[in-house]
Amino acid sequence: MDRRSFIKSTGVATLGIGLNYSKTFSSNIKPTSNPVVIATWDVKNATNKAWDILIKNGESLDAIEQGCRVEEANKDGQSVGIGGLPDRDGNVTLDACIMNHKGNCGSVVYLKNIKHAISIARLVMEKTPHVILAGDGAKKFALSMGFFEENLLTDKSKSDWINWKKNEKYKPIINVENHDTIGMLAIDKNNNISGGCTTSGLAYKMQGRVGDSPIIGSGLFIDNEVGGAVATGLGEEVLKTVGSFLVVELMRQGYSPTEACKIAIERIVKKPESNYKNFQVGYIAINKNGETGCYAIQEGFSMTKYDKSGNSNIKSLFHDKKI
Ligand code: GLY
Repeated sequence: MDRRSFIKSTGVATLGIGLNYSKTFSSNIKPTSNPVVIATWDVKNATNKAWDILIKNGESLDAIEQGCRVEEANKDGQSVGIGGLPDRDGNVTLDACIMNHKGNCGSVVYLKNIKHAISIARLVMEKTPHVILAGDGAKKFALSMGFFEENLLTDKSKSDWINWKKNEKYKPIINVENHDTIGMLAIDKNNNISGGCTTSGLAYKMQGRVGDSPIIGSGLFIDNEVGGAVATGLGEEVLKTVGSFLVVELMRQGYSPTEACKIAIERIVKKPESNYKNFQVGYIAINKNGETGCYAIQEGFSMTKYDKSGNSNIKSLFHDKKI
């Protein structure tokens, strides 16, 4: 569908959404909705923590780090931090990245035994000349920064892995307990946008596999002039379409956050030989005006949003439903 027919079918033209982002994000208009924080899935404790920081005039980067840490420390979440499901050999390995309003970013991949991957990603950004640290090097760096090692494989995740090994079916799980990679985006009272995402990655992945979440542009992208986007779901499909960068670039062209997420999802769905019915990908996005949106391939994805009207979980639109 081209831009013209998209506008026609969705009625967005009547909302006055311009093609030129400089029109959409006029510097003369001070957004009234800020601050705002959004996150993938139903993670109200995480958005609550972020909001506490934002409402006290805190910076969006601090809100993102502290919000993501809530889920990393939650032993019951099997897709992030401690309690994450392991790879097929029983190793829990974490990926995370963070990006601030200045366009700086940091990331860790294949991090073992340190649950707060998001904080290590931030330290990579702030304390090293690099963007990505991997594996043993990332762990060595984390230890040098005062973090300690712990076993991230909980009894529950270990027994689920042992059960999985009975058949060893290698198939992505759609909507892992309605809680998958945690991605978070926030705009603070100074109108600065930051984002982060953190994950234990695809359950029962091959050893060494890295997904989209620590890859800037795929799992997360922020452009403080335009907005930010973050992905959840099957990382391979997000990587192949550089999804979060795409969503931000679509917002730059004037698409709303929901439209931009929808178009990025359609890129995946419409690929030749796409078997999209077998996996989930979801995006959430925020623009410079504090407007937010989300879209997914499958039913079941949701976004948590905390703004002046409160902390709520919003069901995402998905591929088979028109916006
Ligand atoms: N989106 C997380 C992953 O695929 O690893």
